[in-house]
Amino acid sequence: MSSMHLALFSSILGTSYAGWRHPETLATSDYDWKWHKELAQRAEQAKFDLIFIADKLMIEDTLENTFNSNTTSRVTGWPDAITLMSSLAAVTEKIGVAGTFSSTFLQPYVVARMLATLDNLSGGRVGWNIVTSSNDREAQNFDSKATLLHHDKRYEKAGEFIEAIKALWDTWEDDAILIDKAAGSFADKSKIHYANFEGEFFNIKGPLNVPRPVQGHPVTIQAGGSGNFVNLAARTADAVFTTERSSLEAGKEYYAQFKSKVISNGRHPDELKILQGLTPIIGRTEKEAKEKFETLLELQTPQMTFSHLSSTMNYDWSQHDLDDLVPNILDQIERRERFTPMIQHAVDEKLTLRQFARWFTSSGLKLVGTPSYVADHMAKVYKEKVADGFIIGAAYSPGGAYDIFDSLVPELQARGVFRTEYDGTTLRDHFGLKRPANAAHKVLT
Ligand SMILES: Cc1cc2nc3c(=O)[nH]c(=O)nc-3n(C[C@H](O)[C@H](O)[C@H](O)COP(=O)(O)O)c2cc1C
Repeated sequence: MSSMHLALFSSILGTSYAGWRHPETLATSDYDWKWHKELAQRAEQAKFDLIFIADKLMIEDTLENTFNSNTTSRVTGWPDAITLMSSLAAVTEKIGVAGTFSSTFLQPYVVARMLATLDNLSGGRVGWNIVTSSNDREAQNFDSKATLLHHDKRYEKAGEFIEAIKALWDTWEDDAILIDKAAGSFADKSKIHYANFEGEFFNIKGPLNVPRPVQGHPVTIQAGGSGNFVNLAARTADAVFTTERSSLEAGKEYYAQFKSKVISNGRHPDELKILQGLTPIIGRTEKEAKEKFETLLELQTPQMTFSHLSSTMNYDWSQHDLDDLVPNILDQIERRERFTPMIQHAVDEKLTLRQFARWFTSSGLKLVGTPSYVADHMAKVYKEKVADGFIIGAAYSPGGAYDIFDSLVPELQARGVFRTEYDGTTLRDHFGLKRPANAAHKVLT
């Protein structure tokens, strides 16, 4: 059976802005290991493909040029991705673990090494989500006087970052380790190579100091929305994390165009899985689900939305009054493909900032209903080729996550669109992806 792919968006305090204030959400720290472990193990019992860990290398402080709104109104901070991935891998057996890594700020050798180590230790269950980052303040945590590289350059750098890391993983051939005690030969020196990678941003000699990962290359995921993102992902990604389109028809068109780009890069369309972000609100009855949704909206404040949007748009929304109409700021920001639909909607509908914040939050929590209603929608998206799967967040936690595992997943399984058992043991197995051949012969010295 072909199965849709499901990733759990890792959070123990809920992924919606106001989720942490929901009466049922845990009043605990984002670092409460007991709950990370519990949700990961429950996701594995539900046969999820992977746990997905978002990350940013900053505390968001673009709104009003301070982190006050962020620290007051939202869950502040990000657990370090590789540390959380490693901890979760140690208490699970089959589910994949993927974390977010910025190609703009991190060094390929270090990232290649961390991921290769964990892929080897976990038996091939690692994925990495490459982001190019979008905020000057993040840049200043690496050089306090810096601003972000231009968008085009960030993507050129990302392409090189991925190429360099894959080259480092290939510096060891799969059978390089011999452990021949009699001959006194630990590894075959003819099967470990220098990378001698040369580029515009990175020059790396290699070899890596870790053997080739179990999966050859850990699963390459990318998140974004721009044309640059689509071009890079179509060439290099195994899976992408995208936001929902404005309609099912628009989603189908996006999916078809993305897959045709994959084909024009000489790849099979199934070699790239398109995953859509989704935060369903599930109730035993439609009425109960709607009440949960209303509770979340009541707990929501405009500061939550604008502290997030200011950071992700690299634009300080505090320069406008909450009761002003949303201005068209599109010519003042980058990443217009991502933000045009939402700004255009606000301008066309003459929304104030306050109304825009409420609309934006509700549009991210559209799927509200019984498990059967939510499963019907997901099955349709999957069958009609709008997405190959979903990255699911629980709006509040752990109740929202238990609804997903215990009520939604059985409905998907009953519809024959989601696996009831794992077919293999690696993340590549779950995604139905081949193990890449080693390209080391191309970089021999
Ligand atoms: C669905 C989705 C998830 C994202 N997750 C993250 C993340 O965890 N960390 C981060 O720094 N950026 C994240 N981003 C932002 C982008 O990945 C990043 O800024 C990007 O590479 C620029 O994307 P663009 O192609 O939309 O311009 C995410 C973007 C999308 C669309």
